[in-house]
Amino acid sequence: MKTKITIASLLVIVFAAYSFSFADVAHKAATGKYVGAVTCVGACHKSDSQGKQLDIWQNSKHSQAYKTLQTPEADKIAKDKGYTTPAAETPQCLKCHVLGKDIDPAELEDTFKKEDGVQCETCHGAGSEYKKLAIMKDKEKAKENGLLVHDDGAAFCTTCHNSESPSFKGFNYDEMWAKIVHKKP
Ligand code: HEC
Ligand code: HEC
Ligand code: HEC
Repeated sequence: MKTKITIASLLVIVFAAYSFSFADVAHKAATGKYVGAVTCVGACHKSDSQGKQLDIWQNSKHSQAYKTLQTPEADKIAKDKGYTTPAAETPQCLKCHVLGKDIDPAELEDTFKKEDGVQCETCHGAGSEYKKLAIMKDKEKAKENGLLVHDDGAAFCTTCHNSESPSFKGFNYDEMWAKIVHKKP
């Protein structure tokens, strides 16, 4: 009897340790916080030699995606859909117009501005852990620290550019990517 109990408790301990190490991995991936476009372009990602990501993004509609929700046109769309809050306060609209998912204040640093709409980290992942130059310079290291790289661009874009968008009229990846392409030279 006694050995049975001991074996049982041992199993419990082993199992607990096992799930803890799993939890650790999941936790690491989730600890990154959103630092905001200002941080991404503050020192880097704006010069000609870097590829002018700032200019390209600022001149794209993505940077205006939150402001779009503050228009009477957007409020009307929200109302017609049966939402009782203004579009800019409706989570079901904010979802695609800011982060591509629900906004959790616990994941945002003070420098993050939802007013910047669909921004660098919306597509590249929360940057607090990969923003350091030493990490950023090494793509693999950056990926381990939360940088998202998209091998299948079309599949990624259509997580927002789809018929769940009230104004959706189709999505042609090549045409749309050409409008916002911002590669490193
Ligand atoms: C998080 C959601 C989200 C993702 C992911 C996303 N977009 Fe968008 N995109 C939007 C929203 C919202 C708008 C509309 C912004 C507005 O008009 O205010 C938009 C608008 C655009 C526009 C401007 C449309 C026009 O008619 O000029 C282009 C181009 C575009 N997206 C390309 C892309 C491409 C290419 C990808 C993938 C690499 C992508 N988007 C991924 C949300 C997203
Ligand atoms: C709508 C989504 C979207 C937004 C917004 C966006 N990017 Fe990207 N970015 C992509 C995709 C897709 C690629 C190409 C595939 C990849 O490298 O992940 C890319 C590529 C890049 C690259 C090139 C990587 C290389 O090796 O050539 C850099 C650097 C970059 N983005 C920085 C930024 C910065 C800085 C911002 C904000 C000013 C930004 N991106 C905004 C989707 C986006
Ligand atoms: C599934 C993602 C998604 C959701 C949810 C979403 N939008 Fe959008 N929204 C987009 C995209 C992507 C665009 C760019 C045009 C397109 O292809 O749909 C856009 C464009 C717009 C535009 C500009 C219209 C135009 O013709 O360019 C307005 C206004 C708008 N959305 C309002 C809203 C409102 C209000 C809600 C909530 C009721 C909402 N959106 C929910 C993704 C979304």
